[in-house]
Amino acid sequence: MYAIAIDGPAGAGKSSVAKAAAKALGFVYVDTGALYRTVGLYLLRSEVDPADAEAVEPKLRDIQVDLKYEDGVQHVILNGEDVSGLIRTPEVSMAASACASVPAVRKFLFSAQVDMAKKYNVIMDGRDIGTTILPNAQVKIFLTASPEVRAERRYKELKEKGVDVSYEETLANVIRRDKQDEKQSKAAEDSILLDNSELDFDGTVNRLLEIVEERTGVK
Ligand code: DC
Repeated sequence: MYAIAIDGPAGAGKSSVAKAAAKALGFVYVDTGALYRTVGLYLLRSEVDPADAEAVEPKLRDIQVDLKYEDGVQHVILNGEDVSGLIRTPEVSMAASACASVPAVRKFLFSAQVDMAKKYNVIMDGRDIGTTILPNAQVKIFLTASPEVRAERRYKELKEKGVDVSYEETLANVIRRDKQDEKQSKAAEDSILLDNSELDFDGTVNRLLEIVEERTGVK
């Protein structure tokens, strides 16, 4: 089995880059942020403060999160409900980020991630993939870009979805999430740093595929 771990801060383009690379390689793309977002959504709905570890922990017993693939597209299922279309709002982003700092949440989502890599050749993106989830991944990338570049990209993405936000608000959110994610988001010692502030999407995907080929021979 091949495993490619992609970690890095919010808005560096991890998911779209990983998705394109997975398609090119014929690997399964696993978006682990979607798992944290799903837990975040559940906590918002339950009116539980996602940063309150003591309140969050007992709630995890009521949650079942599953991953499903349809035509190669990942769907997250929360207690039987496909919530894939509900987890990309700024509120859910913040709730996901907050609950991700609760150790019980990380433990709760651990096996869902590890199991995917046991079954398939995967490109998995997240924050702790190279360090904790797949420490033996053949390729580890830390994909990053400056906060301003990441905010600009996120702003465009949200605008396209019709979400009403300003660039300033988006940048403030990026910086806030960076701070909140700091603890989880570490580059593995054996990871390759890929800063794409100056690269476009295709350039980033191509660089990633080059690295994968260099390391594994897979193309
Ligand atoms: O990648 P994303 O923006 O969809 O992730 C949502 C939040 O989940 C992010 O703020 C940090 C957290 N997360 C994490 O702690 N570990 C992961 N492997 C993936 C996401």
